[in-house]
Amino acid sequence: MRDQLEPLFTPFACGSLTMANRFVMSPMTRNFSPHGVPGPDVARYYARRAPMGLVITEGVGPDHPAALGDGTTGGPALPLMHGEAALAGWQRVVDAVHAAGGKIAPQLWHMGPIRLAGTGPHPEAVSVSPSGIWGPFDRAALPPAYLEAVRAPTGPASESDIADVIAGFARSAANAHALGFDAIALHGGHGYLLDSFLWAQTNHRTDAWGGDPLRRTRLACDVVRAVRRVIPADKPIIFRLSQWKLQDYGARLAQTPQELGVITGALVDAGVDIFDVSTRRFNEAAFDGSDMGLSGWVRQLTGKTVMTVGGIGFDKDLQSSFVESTHTLDNLDEVARRFAAGEFDLVAIGRAALMDADWIGKLRRGEAFKPFDLSAYARLD
Ligand SMILES: Cc1cc2nc3c(=O)[nH]c(=O)nc-3n(C[C@H](O)[C@H](O)[C@H](O)COP(=O)(O)O)c2cc1C
Repeated sequence: MRDQLEPLFTPFACGSLTMANRFVMSPMTRNFSPHGVPGPDVARYYARRAPMGLVITEGVGPDHPAALGDGTTGGPALPLMHGEAALAGWQRVVDAVHAAGGKIAPQLWHMGPIRLAGTGPHPEAVSVSPSGIWGPFDRAALPPAYLEAVRAPTGPASESDIADVIAGFARSAANAHALGFDAIALHGGHGYLLDSFLWAQTNHRTDAWGGDPLRRTRLACDVVRAVRRVIPADKPIIFRLSQWKLQDYGARLAQTPQELGVITGALVDAGVDIFDVSTRRFNEAAFDGSDMGLSGWVRQLTGKTVMTVGGIGFDKDLQSSFVESTHTLDNLDEVARRFAAGEFDLVAIGRAALMDADWIGKLRRGEAFKPFDLSAYARLD
């Protein structure tokens, strides 16, 4: 292994979570859990990634009828974190990862406005969003048929809808804790439910759930607090946030570092331990006047544990890799340089870890990585 990468292979601890190294498998939807139940194939898939310091699972539906449905990533076989069969399936996954010496957190994911009406385990459920709108249709690079289908207005979420969502997150977090997951991750990015409340473009509310950036954090903070109440104080809560949205890859949640500080500060007060800062390119400058990436800003503003992600191991970011030819790229020295500069504590790997179960082993041994391969999305290698 190259000397400069050694710091990335040092152990890390946050509360009760201990990790053998700084690498994390980024959450990636796989659609291999029919009826919401992850089978033995899913357990083997995650166990193969146990050498990563932490595995974060694909998005998993919390216990709310409108949490999941078809979305931009399809969705007839998305997993759930409630119900006897799904929980037995997850027990198998947790046990397999632990037996292989790894750590694992589920990513609880409510699709909110992205969910297509009339789909998912409860087709009759009405999709939840702050103001009954999906977002700006003219800025999304998504299939026209999907955009047409999500246009149906749903109406703003009521007080009881919001209370049900919060209670559903808490029930599923309690289920995950009981199964022995090592941390709880919440999907607060990419334009899904929690992010749609954070984002001014989709949250036009004038009540206590909308308004200025601080008021727009209320749902996310209430979910974090509700999760904290049902898990031990030292089990980390990981919160994913992003500037970019599926509705608009160029969107900005926070226009300035000051706004970012308001949002992340509220989340810290609510109980977030680790920020999973989702960017398309980990090394892209977040604000004018500095080359620091978004994770560096979040770390500086909050003093909390921060994870970076985006474009590590490949020459194209996630979105571009669907339409442009993509190749492996060893940009780990740049990761190590920014790590040494204090921009982040943890490094999440998405596509590279999906396409090559032994990615971290190859990195350690200095071997060549597998080439980029879109067909891997259709398999559970
Ligand atoms: C097939 C696939 C599914 C994904 N599903 C999710 C998901 O369920 N939740 C999430 O937060 N991000 C999801 N992502 C985004 C990844 O977690 C990651 O942020 C992104 O791929 C950028 O990292 P990379 O450049 O290392 O791939 C997905 C990405 C891929 C490729």
